[in-house]
Amino acid sequence: MRTLVLVFHPHLDRSRVNRALMDVAAGVDGVTVVDEYAQYPDFVVDAEREQELIETHDRIVLQFPFYWYSSPALLKQWEDAVLKAGWAYAGGRALEGKEFMVAVSTGSPAESYTREGSHVRTMEELLSPFETTFRHTHATYLKPFLIQGVATATDEQIDAAVAKYPAALTA
Ligand SMILES: Cc1cc2nc3c(=O)[nH]c(=O)nc-3n(C[C@H](O)[C@H](O)[C@H](O)COP(=O)(O)O)c2cc1C
Repeated sequence: MRTLVLVFHPHLDRSRVNRALMDVAAGVDGVTVVDEYAQYPDFVVDAEREQELIETHDRIVLQFPFYWYSSPALLKQWEDAVLKAGWAYAGGRALEGKEFMVAVSTGSPAESYTREGSHVRTMEELLSPFETTFRHTHATYLKPFLIQGVATATDEQIDAAVAKYPAALTA
């Protein structure tokens, strides 16, 4: 299986989690890792290049830190540019048979993403635009890989969570 990890993080130089996830992913056989903010610092996404990358991989992982209950802006730009009518939907079925997964780090802990928690909504609810997008485009949406509570996590806790990434990428 060929797996593509697309990383959307505007400040990888200051990252604790996503940089570590990238590094561990890059060491896994059959995994290609791309730093999308480095590719497109001006937000002009090369749709053809991205479509070709998707077409030549079986599983696509969208990796990002949670920003305002969503993704950093470049991922939205990427979706709007790449998932075109006639290719991904509306007559196109390029994503049929592909597996998509989101890999997301959150500053707040898992228990805050519950009905009773401070954010009230669950991660499943907040990530539903991704699930719905990939359902609509006939892809398979895999269980998200989440690393939560990053704001207060110790280095040991982050290391332990990051160590689970290779298994999630290849399961
Ligand atoms: C602009 C911005 C918005 C953020 N919004 C959220 C949020 O909605 N929920 C949350 O749990 N953490 C939020 N955070 C915290 C980040 O998710 C957290 O710092 C990141 O996942 C850590 O990953 P990193 O070490 O790779 O940067 C936000 C951070 C920034 C800079």
